[in-house]
Amino acid sequence: MPVSVVVGTQWGDEGKAKIIDLLAETHQVVARYQGGHNAGHTVVVGDQKYALQLVPSGVFYSHVTPVIGNGVVVDLPTLFNEIDTLESRGVSCARLRVSSLAHLIFPWHQSHDAISESGLGENKIGTTLKGIGPAYADKARRVGIRAGDVRDPQRFKNLVRERAIAEQKVLTALGGEQLDVDSIVEKFSHLGARLAPYVADTVNFLHDALDRKENLLLEGAQATFLDIDHGTYPFVTSSNPIAGGACAGSGLGPRDITRIVGIAKAYTTRVGSGPFPSELLGELGDKIVDIGHEFGTVTGRRRRPGWLDLVMLRHAVRLNSLTEIALTKLDVLDTFSTVRVCVGYELNGKEISGYPDDSQMLGQVVAKYVDIPGWNTSVRAIRNYKDLPKQSQQLIELVEKHVGVPVTMIGVGPERNECVVRK
Ligand code: GDP
Ligand code: IMO
Ligand code: MG
Repeated sequence: MPVSVVVGTQWGDEGKAKIIDLLAETHQVVARYQGGHNAGHTVVVGDQKYALQLVPSGVFYSHVTPVIGNGVVVDLPTLFNEIDTLESRGVSCARLRVSSLAHLIFPWHQSHDAISESGLGENKIGTTLKGIGPAYADKARRVGIRAGDVRDPQRFKNLVRERAIAEQKVLTALGGEQLDVDSIVEKFSHLGARLAPYVADTVNFLHDALDRKENLLLEGAQATFLDIDHGTYPFVTSSNPIAGGACAGSGLGPRDITRIVGIAKAYTTRVGSGPFPSELLGELGDKIVDIGHEFGTVTGRRRRPGWLDLVMLRHAVRLNSLTEIALTKLDVLDTFSTVRVCVGYELNGKEISGYPDDSQMLGQVVAKYVDIPGWNTSVRAIRNYKDLPKQSQQLIELVEKHVGVPVTMIGVGPERNECVVRK
């Protein structure tokens, strides 16, 4: 199993980081392949809780080399803040490598994100305001500045000044805040110098690791239904979190990938705007939010709760070629008298087959449910599948039957060891 991909199958925050941390024990490299500091990845080791935004979730093992791949957009103040925080807590980031091809985020990207969101008014996407979309837009229109550019400090400084002056004109025309060009150039010259020792040719590094028969783990951020192509456009992020994005964002080829683990919560959440067929607006939704602590790691926003949606999950199996599923946060449902699972959609009274290719239509479908009796007991201490309550096994088997791939891991608590791994 040399190259594994971990991908979110819903709208993010499925517990990807916890599973990546668990799997990293048997891997030598963990590489992020897309997104940026819009991600909030939580790892709990013993009584220590870490919230990561850019540093890959494998950083807690000394045998792992964490890599920020070429598909990631990197915000340098956040990266160094994260490195400093981790190191002050005894977690070394010395092995970290940042792809020379990764694009950098600058303050004007954040300004554009804010202007764009406020311009959309009620139709806003509800972005994290981290400048992710504008940074990817600059990459696509070929005016981005990349990590490798810091290798020549004078050239890097000139590039930053050139872009800052150009962006100042655009932002002024849009009525945005004035950029302080000199202080941005000064600040980023320092940050660039600090970045230089981490910059590496990660594409060849990953291929060399593969040649040495090392195990590589590719870490997705966000999720399938936030994918810019396959998600609920326009309520999506600006990259390709799907497993296909792992190749573009790391430089590995499709045939290198052998295992693709889709992470799904035993229910569903979404932060920000957009359609959500199995959304729960009442008290039951509040109960999920309370017990599951469903508040964003990055923005603190309340996550919208809903039941598990197997129409979505089956589509995620197709889009990502999932080989297996890790079902997380099963314990959050411990006290529910009934657990509902969406197994189909109806539109205008007629069942529709498959996941609609239209966000408007998705906003109008009515979710059809199967009800499973609750188990009313805590699953947190359980480590073997056979010891799980029969009703929760019924839920897991319904998932497998509906989506056609095995559920190999079941999360029963936030800590590293709180997981049922099926042999
Ligand atoms: P990610 O973005 O997919 O890595 O997920 P987040 O870290 O944003 O959100 C998942 C949250 O659920 C974090 O607070 C985790 O500590 C927590 N978590 C992960 N797995 C489980 C689980 O099986 N049970 C419970 N109760 N919490 C979990
Ligand atoms: P992790 O990796 C949940 C959502 C935002 C917004 C949309 C676009 O922790 O699962 P962006 O700032 O990316 O332009 O925002 O995407 N979003 C996430 N939601 N988890 C995430 O990351 C997210 N990253 C972005 O809320 O709706
Ligand atoms: Mg998250």
